[in-house]
Amino acid sequence: AALPRIADDLVRWQRAQGRHGLPWQHTRDPYRVWLSEVMLQQTQVTTVLGYYARFLERWPDVAALAAAPLDEVLGQWSGLGYYSRARNLHRCAQAVVADHGGRFPQRAERLATLPGIGPSTAAAIASFCFDERVAILDGNVKRVLARVLAFDGDIGQGGPTRTLWRIAGQLLPEAPSDMPAWTQGVMDLGATVCTPRKPQCGVCPLTTHCAARAAGRQANFPVKEKR
Ligand code: ADE
Repeated sequence: AALPRIADDLVRWQRAQGRHGLPWQHTRDPYRVWLSEVMLQQTQVTTVLGYYARFLERWPDVAALAAAPLDEVLGQWSGLGYYSRARNLHRCAQAVVADHGGRFPQRAERLATLPGIGPSTAAAIASFCFDERVAILDGNVKRVLARVLAFDGDIGQGGPTRTLWRIAGQLLPEAPSDMPAWTQGVMDLGATVCTPRKPQCGVCPLTTHCAARAAGRQANFPVKEKR
């Protein structure tokens, strides 16, 4: 596959056809982007929208959130589930204030040292806010890459996951200014086109690059053994 063309085709598609109306897409404020990414880790967009607006109204910046009592944060989180996310959210806000002068670090590597920020969330924040050339790899992205590459490793295992991280890094666009569209594009493709069942290959910007599609084997990827 022609790696640079994959990036260019996806960036162009995201700009023309990707999602643009979500409230966290029109800011480079790492506080807002971080809040959205943590909420979106295990919760659907439509559910997140209301919680996101209420959090920002109550706590408009990281200092305000850090100063809030934990039980108020947990109360606002009520209904979103996975409450360790809310505890880590509060701990992270306090760490940004106490250890980083109230400003989020700009590099993914530093962001990933904060509570509740794993490598993929760190990369999303750094690429959206600071144009860092760094890969994300969540479940949606694993599926997209496994299909494009006809990757037959088990994506539930560590070794194949490390391979996908390396490949995800090789696929990044060359221009840092393309990073926000790339990151959003690969998320949007997985969420709306390269779906687990019945992928919409007819409208996919990567269809000419896709090894699974070429073999008519979209349903066989990603490989995930039951355990
Ligand atoms: N899921 C995780 N991050 C997202 C984002 N930025 N936009 C839409 N869905 C997402």
